[in-house]
Parts: sequence; C-alpha cells; structure tokens
Amino acid sequence: MKKRVLSGIRATGRLHLGNYMGAVKGMLELQDNPEYETLYMVADLHTVTTPYKVEELRKNRREVVLDYLAAGLDPEKSILFEQSDSPHAELAFYLSSVVNIARMQHLPTFKDKVKQHPNNVTMALLNYPVLMAADILIYKAGLVPVGIDQEPHLEVAREIARKMNETYGTDFPEPVRFATRGEYVPSLTGEGKMSKSIEGSYINLTDDLETIQKRLAGAPTDSGKGEKIPTSGGVFNLLKFVELFEGIDARKKYEQAYRGQGIAYRELKENLAQAIFNELKPIQEKRSELERKTSYVDEVIKRGAEKARKIAKETVLEVKEKMGLSFN
Ligand code: TYM
Repeated sequence: MKKRVLSGIRATGRLHLGNYMGAVKGMLELQDNPEYETLYMVADLHTVTTPYKVEELRKNRREVVLDYLAAGLDPEKSILFEQSDSPHAELAFYLSSVVNIARMQHLPTFKDKVKQHPNNVTMALLNYPVLMAADILIYKAGLVPVGIDQEPHLEVAREIARKMNETYGTDFPEPVRFATRGEYVPSLTGEGKMSKSIEGSYINLTDDLETIQKRLAGAPTDSGKGEKIPTSGGVFNLLKFVELFEGIDARKKYEQAYRGQGIAYRELKENLAQAIFNELKPIQEKRSELERKTSYVDEVIKRGAEKARKIAKETVLEVKEKMGLSFN
C-alpha cells in the first residue's frame, strides 16, 4: 500500500507566500512522487475556531481550491477536498477522549490565539489540535507537508496516535512533518513570520508586480553597510527572501556587498519583486482561467469529497468498534 500524505490550509482568504513556500511547495513535490497517495484539503472546519463571517467562509472555501489548482495541485494525482465533507469532526470527538485539557491550554499556538481574540476562547479553539490530528489520522497519513509553525500540532497528533494505539489497539502511524526550503517565511515587517493576520507582513499569490513592489517598499532596511550581517530584523528577512526566490548565490553576493561597498536596497527590492512575480505569474494566469471553469471546479470538489469520505468512514467505523461503540 502507498504511504499517505495529508495537508490542509484554512479557508481565511487568498493564500500568501508563506502558505505557498511552507505548505503548497511540499504538497506539489509529494504529489509527483509515485510512492505516495496525496490528500489535500481546505481546512474549513478549522476556520470556525476563531471569529469569522459565514458568507466569507462560503466564498473562501472555493478560493483555496482555486489557489490549489492554480499552483499545480492536480485532481488526477491528488484527492482535493473540503474538510467538512468528510467525518473529521466525528473522529476528533473520539480522539478527544485521550487528550488532556491542560496539554492543549499550554500550546504556544493556543496562547497566541487567546491573545489575538481574548473574547473568543471557545471549546472549538481548544480543540484545534485534536481536529488537526483527526484530519491526519482519519487517513492514517504518515507524512504532512506544513510549515515549521505547525510542529507543535504534529507533536500532539503523534501523542494522540500513540495513546489511541495503546488504549484501544488502533494502528495509527505517528505522522511526521515534510519540510520545504521555505518552511519559515519571514514577515515583511522585519519581525516574526509572514501571516495573514498581520497587516504589512505578507505578499499574496494573486498580487501583481506593482503590488509586490509596494509591499516590499515598506520592508525596513538599514544603511546597507556594516562589518556584521544582521541575524534578525528587516535586512535579515530581505536576504532570506533573496535566497528563497533568487537563490543562495544572489544572497551571498548581497552579503559580500554589505561588508564592502554597501547594498543598494532600491535595486535589491526591484530585483526581488521581479523574481517573486516571475514565480507567481503562471499561477495567476492559470487561476484566471480556472475562475471561468465553474462546473469543472464543482466537479473536482464533489469527486474529492467522495474519495476522501470513503477512506475516512472506514477509519471512523474501525475506531468506534475498537472503542466499544456501535459500528453499524
Ligand atoms: P494555516 O492556514 O494557518 O497555514 C497553512 C499552511 O501554511 C504554512 N504557513 C507558513 N509556512 C512558512 N512560513 C510562513 N510564514 C507560513 N505561514 C503559514 C503553515 O505552516 C501551514 O502549513 N493548522 C493548519 C491547517 C490544517 C492542517 C491540518 C495542516 C488543518 N488541519 C492537517 C496539515 C494537516 C494551518 O496552520 O493552516
């Protein structure tokens, strides 16, 4: 049997470069490897763990599918589907019986969200990692292409798999992360990671050249010269972007310039904007084609749901049986 891969992205709007470099690139790589059966979903259930607008979620679910297809995920090679079409929430409940509340409360990702939304600390939010474990374990996936920020959640998924296997005799694998070169895409603000919830931090996959130039223009710089190349902050992040989009040699060239005649940031940002746009342009062209193919996209979502549900239902029945519940 082929090894399974699962990943997902929340339906919070257009994808940004962090999602693309940290997750989608890994999804693409594994999709093209015949050793794996790949399942990629829109994490719409996870979207309801923080405040959201119903109409926006309806629209955004589809936006993520379009972004997936435009980036090259192929329904002939991967199962592309929406999480709420498959019984993940049900498995999450069964899994929650082996999860300690304090463990969930201490996760850095939970604490961050509590800070962001202090008036919406819900059970759904506390359950976020359990639902994510269910997403993975329901397909018995062993490999998960996600950014480094998701590592604490994968640790929880492994703990749950172990606990379920010990307690109920299930055979869940302990899933590991599949890392890409872009597993941590920094913020354009010079602090932390690129994130949809931080204005000024991101570049969207749908941004045109002018927008990319504008966004990069806001990234902080320094005098462009010095003995020591910064190891954090705006310049460090810009160099990371250069490495990701123009290659390591381009980065080394700038580092040399920093120690010598100095970096001209106008030129650096101009070249970088062009390099980023070159990578995004074919994705954007494909996306505008797909926007017109409404029935094709509907069909992809419907077929993906059927395939995912078939596998997921088997796992749910197996778990119910092992837990002593009715499994008719
Ligand atoms: P989300 O929507 O927050 O992020 C989606 C993916 O993008 C990656 N990512 C980044 N990677 C590198 N640098 C960044 N700045 C950056 N920002 C975001 C995330 O690591 C993630 O891979 N909980 C998941 C969604 C999910 C999921 C799953 C993933 C739900 N169930 C099961 C895998 C398996 C998340 O963070 O989504």
